[in-house]
Amino acid sequence: MSEALAGLKRTHYCGELRSAHIGGEVTLMGWVQGRRDHGGVIFADLRDRFGIAQVVFNPETIGAEDFKKAEGLRSEFVVAVSGRVLARPAGTVNANLPTGEVELYASSLTVLNKAKTPPFYIEDDLKADELLRLKYRYLDLRRPKMKDALVLRHKTAFAMRQFLNGQDFLEIETPMLTKSTPEGARDYLVPSRLQPGSFFALPQSPQLFKQLLMVAGMEKYFQIARCFRDEDLRADRQPEFTQLDMEMSFVEADDVMRLSENLMAYIFEQTLARKIATPFPRLTYAEAISRFGSDKPDLRFGMELIDIADVAAESEFKVFAAVARAGGWVRGINAKGCAKYSRKEIDDLTAFAAIYGAKGLAWIMVGEDGLKSVIAKFFTEEQLQEICRRMQAEPGDLLLFVAAEKNIAADSLGHLRCEIAGREGLIDARELNFLWVTDFPLLEYDEEEKRWKAVHHPFTSPKDEDLPLLSQKPQAARAKAYDLILNGVELGGGSIRIHSRAVQEELFSLLGFSLEEARQKFGFLLDAFEYGTPPHGGIAFGLDRMVMLMAGRESIRDVIAFPKTQSAGDLMTQAPGEVSAKQLRELHIKTDILPVK
Ligand code: AMO
Ligand code: AMP
Repeated sequence: MSEALAGLKRTHYCGELRSAHIGGEVTLMGWVQGRRDHGGVIFADLRDRFGIAQVVFNPETIGAEDFKKAEGLRSEFVVAVSGRVLARPAGTVNANLPTGEVELYASSLTVLNKAKTPPFYIEDDLKADELLRLKYRYLDLRRPKMKDALVLRHKTAFAMRQFLNGQDFLEIETPMLTKSTPEGARDYLVPSRLQPGSFFALPQSPQLFKQLLMVAGMEKYFQIARCFRDEDLRADRQPEFTQLDMEMSFVEADDVMRLSENLMAYIFEQTLARKIATPFPRLTYAEAISRFGSDKPDLRFGMELIDIADVAAESEFKVFAAVARAGGWVRGINAKGCAKYSRKEIDDLTAFAAIYGAKGLAWIMVGEDGLKSVIAKFFTEEQLQEICRRMQAEPGDLLLFVAAEKNIAADSLGHLRCEIAGREGLIDARELNFLWVTDFPLLEYDEEEKRWKAVHHPFTSPKDEDLPLLSQKPQAARAKAYDLILNGVELGGGSIRIHSRAVQEELFSLLGFSLEEARQKFGFLLDAFEYGTPPHGGIAFGLDRMVMLMAGRESIRDVIAFPKTQSAGDLMTQAPGEVSAKQLRELHIKTDILPVK
C-alpha cells in the first residue's frame, strides 16, 4: 500500500495551523506520530518539519474506504490528508501545542508510504543508545530536537554569509584534493590514479590557499569550509568538521578581532535574538594560564588560582617546599562553601586532579573554630594566616592546593576549578561568556621529537618586538595569535601571518626544516611572497562547536547531520569499507591487510 501523489498538493505545513484557519479546506502531508482510536473515531498526530497537527478521522465525514485506511495507520507512515480545519471542542484544547486550538477533520486520506516500526521512538526525551541512533540517523534526525539543531545550524551559516557579504567579503572555494604538508594533525590521504605512488591530502584547513588568495588580491575571503584531521576524537572533535574560515589583507590583530566580535554579535542576534556585548574582554595567554590554569578559561565563575609558592618555600611541608624551591608551582583554589565535603568527595577530587598529573591534592577546611587539615602542622600560624588572607578564606570554605611542575599544576587546577563549579552549580547555563586569549607563545618545545613546534601554525607572525628573540630565546617569542573562547570552549583561532620570505624561511629553519626541505614543501608559498604580498591575517571558527554551544548541546555530534563515531566510522553507511581488487589495482595500491576479493 503506497499511493502516488497523483497531482495532490500540500497547501499548509502541519505546524502552521491556527484559529485563523478555522473553516478552511487544507491538505497536509507528513509522518504519523501516533494514532488513538476513540469509540469509532480515529485521532492521529501528523508531523512535518514545521510541527504537529491533530487529524480526526470520523466515518461521518470521510468515505468508508479512506476510513479503513485510517484504521491501518501506524507510526511513521507517510500520508496526505485533506479536510476542513475546525476548532477543537471545549475542554480538548492543547495549550502545549502551537496548533492545539484546532484540528483537521479529514475528508480524504492518501497513504504515500508505509513504515516499519522504528527501532526507537521518534521523540525528544529518548533514552536510546547513541550507536543505535547513529545507525538509523535518518530516523534520529526526525526528532524535533535534532531537527531544530540543523535548523539553527542553517540559520547560523546563513547569518555568517549575510554579515560577511555586507562587509565586502568574497566566498571562495579552495581545493579538497591538496598537498600533504608537515606540521598540524595527521592527514587523510587520497591516492592518485594518474600519478602512481603519489597522494593527495584532504585539507586540514584552507590555510595556505587563503593566504595565496591574499597574494592574489582578493583582500577579504571567507569560506564555510570542510576540514579533515585524523586525530583522536572527543566530544568536541570530529575527523571532518566545518570552519567559518576568513582572511583579510591590510589588517592587524585588532582589526580581525573587532570584525569577529561584530560577526558574533550579528549571528547571535539573528539566530537566537540574543544581544552580545562587545568588545569582548581580553586576557593574554600568560595571564590566562596564571589565573585560571587554562588557555581557554571559563569565566562564568571565579575561583582563580592563587600563588602560595613563596609561603610554601619557607614551610616545613617538604613536598611543597621542594617544588617551590625548584621553581615549580604551588597554587590553590578556594572552593567556596565546600568545607562540607566528605573524605570520599575529597578523594574523588584528588583522583580527578591525578588525571592531569597532580601527584596529590592538599586541602585545608576552614571552620568557624579554626582550620582542619593534615598539612596545617607543617606551617606556622603566620603562614596559615597569610594563605587564608590571599585566598580570601571564610568559614565554610575548602582550600585545595597542588604543587607540581607548572604545566601539570595549571592543568590540574584549571580542570579542578571547572569540575567544582559544575558540582556546585556555579555555572549559569544561559550565560554567553566570550573572551579573547592573545599573545600566545610562538613556539613550544616538543620533548619527544626534540625540536620546536609552532603553537598555532608555522605561518603565524611573531610580535614585532619579539622578532629578535627568534635567534636568541625562541621560547620567549610571542605570536600575533588570538583565540576566541566561549564558555570555556575554543570557538576559533587565528593570527596575523608572516608575509616576508626571509622571516618565513627563518621560522621553517627554527622548526627544523632545511632550506631545501622548506622549498620542496612550501616553495609555492615562499615564491608567492616575492610577488607583492600584502600584510594579512585571519581566523577560523569551528561551526560545529559554535552551534553546539548555541543549541546547549554536549557534543558536536548532536549538531552534525551525519557524524562519525569515536573510531571515526559511519555506522549507517559502514564507512570506511573494503574496496575491490580492481579499484586497488587502478590506484597502484597493494595491501596485505585488506582481504582482496
Ligand atoms: P585551528 O586549528 O585552531 O585553526 O581551527 C580553528 C577552529 O576549528 C575548530 N576545530 C574543530 N572542530 C571540530 N573538530 C575538530 N577536530 C576541530 N579542530 C578544530 C575549533 C578551532 O578553534 N587555519 C587555522 C585558522 C587560522 O589561522 O586562520 C586553523 O585551522 O573551533
Ligand atoms: P602525604 O604527606 O604524602 O601523606 O600528603 C599529605 C597531603 O598532601 C595529602 O592530602 C596529599 O594528597 C597532599 N599532597 C601530596 N603531594 C602533593 C602535591 N604534589 N601537591 C598537592 N598536594 C599534595
